[in-house]
Amino acid sequence: MKPVYDLADLRHWREATRDVDPPVRLGVFGEPVEHSLSPPMQNAALRHCGIAAQYARFQIRRSELAEAIDRARELGFIGLNLTVPHKSAALPLLDDAKDNALIIGSVNTISLKDARIVGYNTDGVGFSAAISEEWESVPLSDFSVLILGAGGAARAIAAECVRVGCAKVFVCNRTRAAADALISDLARLGSGTAMQAIDQSRDAIRPAMSAANLIVNATSVGLRPDDKAPIDGDLFSAAHFVYDTIYNPPRTKLLVVAQAAGARIANGSSMLLQQGARAFEIWFKRKAPVAVMRAALRSVVP
Ligand code: ATR
Repeated sequence: MKPVYDLADLRHWREATRDVDPPVRLGVFGEPVEHSLSPPMQNAALRHCGIAAQYARFQIRRSELAEAIDRARELGFIGLNLTVPHKSAALPLLDDAKDNALIIGSVNTISLKDARIVGYNTDGVGFSAAISEEWESVPLSDFSVLILGAGGAARAIAAECVRVGCAKVFVCNRTRAAADALISDLARLGSGTAMQAIDQSRDAIRPAMSAANLIVNATSVGLRPDDKAPIDGDLFSAAHFVYDTIYNPPRTKLLVVAQAAGARIANGSSMLLQQGARAFEIWFKRKAPVAVMRAALRSVVP
């Protein structure tokens, strides 16, 4: 199997996969995609369950998405994951959308059963499963949450907080308009959760940090080594639980300063695992071998 396939391979699939056994019937579409950890995780699950299929990476450009999905469907693929830049671009291509994918505005999992393109968003359930995995004693619904970011990941996490009934959700984003849009879109879910957009300023963050006990970074800040912590360390206390959706590096500056203040911390590897497990369950209608998938991830994430 090639480390990365592309649209030309899908167009000449028989030649491109002549010696590949078991056949590739699942994959992740994205650009860039070469760093995706879904293949080792999903292939470990497929092997463990004795399913004769493999999961591959596909470098697919924005303009190629519709054709690539169509070809995958015609080739009898079981399903796909989507990553940057396809998570919202795929919405108009779906025959059906689940998990509030339309309200969230983002789809990360596609099922191609019976030639129908059905979109799901497993980031939200992946997030709540990750919180239960990290901090067994406190269900997500008991937290008041401060979410940093208003992109696809933040929207899925916020929708999940609303779904499980968190009392209060603050959304803090560099671009305030995106936080406002998130809140007005999620109002359509209707619930008892009080949602509030706040500016990305110390003055706005300080009171939110007193009211919230779960802080979630759903921005890309922290991916680069010179990124600063998006919240000053002195605003954290031992009452805070801090979840960074970033898993590489495994300890962002945010997690370092939060831990130094006594907060409990976790990185995004549990969410990566749990969203992948939910995708597996959508494709195969059976429980995902989570322990096997976790072990596969641990062998590739530092
Ligand atoms: P994803 O699908 O992973 O959520 P995304 O939709 O591109 O990715 O969202 C990225 C998020 O990180 C956004 O909330 C973005 O803020 P803006 O709406 O202001 O763009 C946030 N982000 C990215 N770089 C940032 C930076 N340097 N400082 C603060 N926020 C940043």
